[in-house]
Amino acid sequence: MTADGAKPDFIGLKRLEPTLPSSYYYDPVAFERDLERLWHPNWVYAFRASTLREPGSFKTVTIGRQTAFVVRDEDGALRAFHNTCRHRGTALCRESEGRLKSMLISCPYHAWGYDLKGDLRRVPSLSMPEGFDRKNFSLYPIALTEWRGLVFLCFDAANAPTFSQAFARGSDRLDHWPIEDLVTGHTYTRRLACNWKVFWENYNECLHCPRVHPELCDMVPIYGRGIMSEREDPKWADHVSTDDPRIKGGLKRGAQSWTVDGRPVGDVFPNLTEAERSGAFHFMTGLPSMYMIAHVDFMRIGSLRPLGPEETELTVDWLFSAATLADPKADITKAIDFATTVLDQDADVCELNQRGIRAKPHKQGVLMPEEMYLADFHEWVRAGLGGEA
Ligand code: FES
Ligand SMILES: [Fe+2]
Repeated sequence: MTADGAKPDFIGLKRLEPTLPSSYYYDPVAFERDLERLWHPNWVYAFRASTLREPGSFKTVTIGRQTAFVVRDEDGALRAFHNTCRHRGTALCRESEGRLKSMLISCPYHAWGYDLKGDLRRVPSLSMPEGFDRKNFSLYPIALTEWRGLVFLCFDAANAPTFSQAFARGSDRLDHWPIEDLVTGHTYTRRLACNWKVFWENYNECLHCPRVHPELCDMVPIYGRGIMSEREDPKWADHVSTDDPRIKGGLKRGAQSWTVDGRPVGDVFPNLTEAERSGAFHFMTGLPSMYMIAHVDFMRIGSLRPLGPEETELTVDWLFSAATLADPKADITKAIDFATTVLDQDADVCELNQRGIRAKPHKQGVLMPEEMYLADFHEWVRAGLGGEA
């Protein structure tokens, strides 16, 4: 809404906007800068809290070359530390997950031991050097927040932003989806041969949809026009009276969910409003690491790990109600197959984007009007980089 209460007009870009410089997508120095300024100071999605239930159970989470050791302590709280011993810096844990044999985090090198609050408890030397106070050698903390059953970390613990800033402007609220109660029914993992920003750029526009996603454009007809909502069409005012989903957005007539046949695979979540039941989907975006897409009967959580300047791991969990997963008549493959097709199409085109971006004359690209959310993403990147680019 505008200040006078009127609906906003055409929302596409009107001005010519350059993309980020091409080197930002492959230069190792730029990658390190992304980690330092965009990943480590922000909240990064780790995993679902329900996957770490027992005291002493742990997981490690690696972002770039920084690794967090996350453990559930004796009181049931989750705690996160750098996976680094205070003696001489050895990695405390090699595994990606497991359960401690005792309630002590024991360094595999010289056996310094820390309690689950991170305090140094065991130093096996026969004597202590003068002035050594074990209180000064607790594990390095990493900030941790749980939100609706999801665990987020901020590696720059001393400067962690308030969690309310974790989700991007324009995100929906998923208050009526029972996120914390849902159960993972399927996981998709793919190593993408592209920079992590290429993934987000693709996520933020549908100009590619007509060419790349025929099945999706059939399900969400407005995508077949390369846009995601009515006001991305400069001539939207000519069509105000129609309810055609090709103009107004939403799923095709008769479809209720993102499945191969458009039918929900299980019961529709009971607390959704009428608008939430009829929308194509609802989403929340947590830059730089995650997104959630909510449908009437299931959800997906996607998360990214930047592995290198030109390599990114994408993991997507499909979440269903326990009742749906227990129902022998509920065929969850209908939900899995539909989105997997779309994910693979996007992954392929992201990799193609990365391959071309290295051409020597291609210093920078340009955005089209339909790429206004991509401009917002670039603004977020530029702001995080301190106005560079
Ligand atoms: S490096 Fe950990 S005990 Fe020596
Ligand atoms: Fe796509």
